Amino acid sequence: MYACKATWALKDALYFFRLDIFPPDYGLVDVHKIHLNSLSSFWGELQNKEKLKQAESDLDKYIGKSEIMGKTMLDIGCGSGIHAISAIRLGAKEVVGIDLSASSIETSRKNAELFGIDNIRFELGSILKPDSLNLNRKFDIVYSWGVLHHTGNMKMAIHNATQFVAQEGVLAIAIYARHWSSPIWKIIKILYNKTPEFLQRLWIYFFCVVIYLAKFAVTGRNPLNKRRGMSFYYDVIDWVGGYPYEYASRNEMKFLLNNYGFELIKFRAADVPTGCHEYLFSRQKKR
Ligand SMILES: C[S@@+](CC[C@H](N)C(=O)[O-])C[C@H]1O[C@@H](n2cnc3c(N)ncnc32)[C@H](O)[C@@H]1O
Repeated sequence: MYACKATWALKDALYFFRLDIFPPDYGLVDVHKIHLNSLSSFWGELQNKEKLKQAESDLDKYIGKSEIMGKTMLDIGCGSGIHAISAIRLGAKEVVGIDLSASSIETSRKNAELFGIDNIRFELGSILKPDSLNLNRKFDIVYSWGVLHHTGNMKMAIHNATQFVAQEGVLAIAIYARHWSSPIWKIIKILYNKTPEFLQRLWIYFFCVVIYLAKFAVTGRNPLNKRRGMSFYYDVIDWVGGYPYEYASRNEMKFLLNNYGFELIKFRAADVPTGCHEYLFSRQKKR
C-alpha cells in the first residue's frame, strides 16, 4: 500500500512540475483575462509622445521602415495600439489591430483618434478563434509582441497567426525565452493568481526588489529606464501575474515555424534570460 501511495505521490509531483501539460482551459485563464483587463487601463500612457517615438524606432529596427512603407499589417494583441499607430506613422498603408480585452480596444481607438489616424481598424477578438474575427484576408506583416505565449495555447496561437501571413509576407513575433528557471516562474505566477488580492501587493513589492536587482546584475543598466512598454512597476505585475505563461527556445521556434514554411531572417535575444526573444520570420516563396 505504501508503494502504491509513493507511486501516486511521485506521479502528482511529476504532473505538477511538467506544467506545460496543463490543458489550455486550466481554470486560471479567466483570472489572467481579468488581470490583463486591469493592466490595459494603464496603457493610456500613449499620450506620452516619447514612448511613441521609441516605439517607432523599435519597429524600424525590428522590421525596417522600408519594409513597412506601403504594406498592410495585422497587430495581434495590440494592447494600447502603440505599435499599430507607429506602423501607420512609418508609412504602412493599412493596419488592423485585434485584442482580447475590451479596454485595450477602447484605449487603442482613443489613442488612434488622439493622433488623428483613421486607417487603423481595431477589433475585439481572440487569435485562438480566428473565425470569429472579421478578417477574410492576409497581411504583408503579421506582428505580435509578447502576446501568443499568454493565450493559453501558444502553439495554436502561432498556427493561427501564420494563416494571416501573405505569400511573401513576414511574421514578427516576440515570445518568452525558455530558461531553466521558466518552470519556477510558472509556479510563481500560478500561486500569485491564487493569492487573495490584498496579499498580491506584497508579492509585487517583493518581486520589484528581486527583479530590479536581477535585471541590474544581468544588464548593468538601471531597470527603471526602460526601452519599451509599460513602467517598471506594471511590468513587474505583468511578469509575476501574467498567466497563462508559455515559453520556447530559439531552436524550438525555428523548428515549429520551418514546418509552416517560414524561415528565420532576424533574431534578437532577450535582454534578460526569461525575457522575450524577438523573431522575424519570412514566408518562403513556393517553388
Ligand atoms: C503583454 S500585452 C502586449 C501588448 C502589445 N503587443 C505591446 O507590445 O505593448 C498582451 C496583450 O495580448 C492580449 N491578448 C491576450 N490573449 C489574447 C488572445 N487570445 N487574442 C488576442 N489578444 C490577446 C492582451 O489583452 C494584451 O493586450
